[in-house]
Amino acid sequence: MIPAASGKIRTMGDDPVLLHELWRTRKSGIAPGLAVVLLAVIFLFGTAMGDEAPLKLMIVSDIHYLAPSLYENSDGLFENVMKRADGKMTHYSRELLEGLMWEARHQHPDAMIVSGDLSFNGEKESHLELAEAFEKLSAEGIPVWVIPGNHDINYPYAGQYIEDRYEPVPNVSPKEFRDIYNPFMIPDQAGKNHMSYAIKLRDWLWLAMCDASIYDPLPASGGLYTGENATWLQAVLDEAKAAGAQVITVTHQSLIPHTAFMLSAMTIENGSLMAEQMRLSGNARLNLSGHLHIQHISEADGLYDIATGAFSVPPFRYGMLTVRENGAAEYEARALCEAHMPQDMARLAKNWFEATVKAKERALLEALGLPEENRERMLEYAAKLNHAYFSGDFVSTDPVWTEDPAFRLWTEIREKDSMARYLTELPGSFENARSALRLALPVMNGGR
Ligand SMILES: [Fe+2]
Repeated sequence: MIPAASGKIRTMGDDPVLLHELWRTRKSGIAPGLAVVLLAVIFLFGTAMGDEAPLKLMIVSDIHYLAPSLYENSDGLFENVMKRADGKMTHYSRELLEGLMWEARHQHPDAMIVSGDLSFNGEKESHLELAEAFEKLSAEGIPVWVIPGNHDINYPYAGQYIEDRYEPVPNVSPKEFRDIYNPFMIPDQAGKNHMSYAIKLRDWLWLAMCDASIYDPLPASGGLYTGENATWLQAVLDEAKAAGAQVITVTHQSLIPHTAFMLSAMTIENGSLMAEQMRLSGNARLNLSGHLHIQHISEADGLYDIATGAFSVPPFRYGMLTVRENGAAEYEARALCEAHMPQDMARLAKNWFEATVKAKERALLEALGLPEENRERMLEYAAKLNHAYFSGDFVSTDPVWTEDPAFRLWTEIREKDSMARYLTELPGSFENARSALRLALPVMNGGR
């Protein structure tokens, strides 16, 4: 049995209680258009039972959307802030959200999964606008399922950029987050401290959206897999197994480590317990995560964690996952199609990402007194490698990286800079020997 706290909700399509609950909560609450959303949900799940067609899921993470009204009146301040940041193009939030909507319509998945860090820094306005966009997709027959990330709730730096000033704006509490995304999540199955929930996409495929983010009273970057989550997930896994269903889990932070260069704040604390529960269940072997901003696939003892690259960072990654009733699954990382962006944005985005990498290292190389020619060569190399690494195109065993003269130049200063260590340890390692863009899982043992 699902824990009592979950009570009402775990199946879709044939569960009048769920439909009643959705109806009731929306009537008390948030945005117009529920009837359309409900009809979409009923249509999708109500007609799908017994349908053996593969299920197509679109996975989006780290959208880091900032409501345009919070940056469009900035006199270049915000763009300068972003230039010194981590490659995100939040100053194109309007265009990226529109692009995401077009991409979703074009792909028309059976559902869209958003694995956290929806907002830039937790601004209420950003969440409200995103929920409105998701509502449109739901109305068009693409249900959206959401969990929060570490930037979404109680975030202390929610702010806006006006002319040359930064000013705080309202963020959201856990309750406000639940209210805003009410149609796109079914919280409380794992108790009031989490927004974890399970949904039955088909009778043979269940989704366990595991909220392991920390945000109360203040957010922290790393995730924590609590006893409440463990009890909830075990019940979901057991019930799914009894029903002959497979389970795909979703978290914001990584379930298993991805890279030697990853900070501990990237992996879920106690995540090994969750991984073990999944392995022992025999019906769950795939977790979908984000948070890293890099596109990467990791495997440990038969369990896979796919970190979909940040949608806010060029080349604007998202994932498409096709799952079949026998358990076979294929994942492919894609990039926002140029046709769904303003003209020339793809080129501008690549330049933007590389410029942010170069800006970080330029001062250091100058301070070391390296000749200009060498500095430029090294910066080009750093930009190229970092772009490949983030986008998932990087193949560490490709000799092109170690044979580049800039590799030797970076090696000479590797003791003086953490970037130099990263740039010289990654090439030639086995870290990215596996494709970060594609994964094919065979038929599941015991699958239907
Ligand atoms: Fe995150």
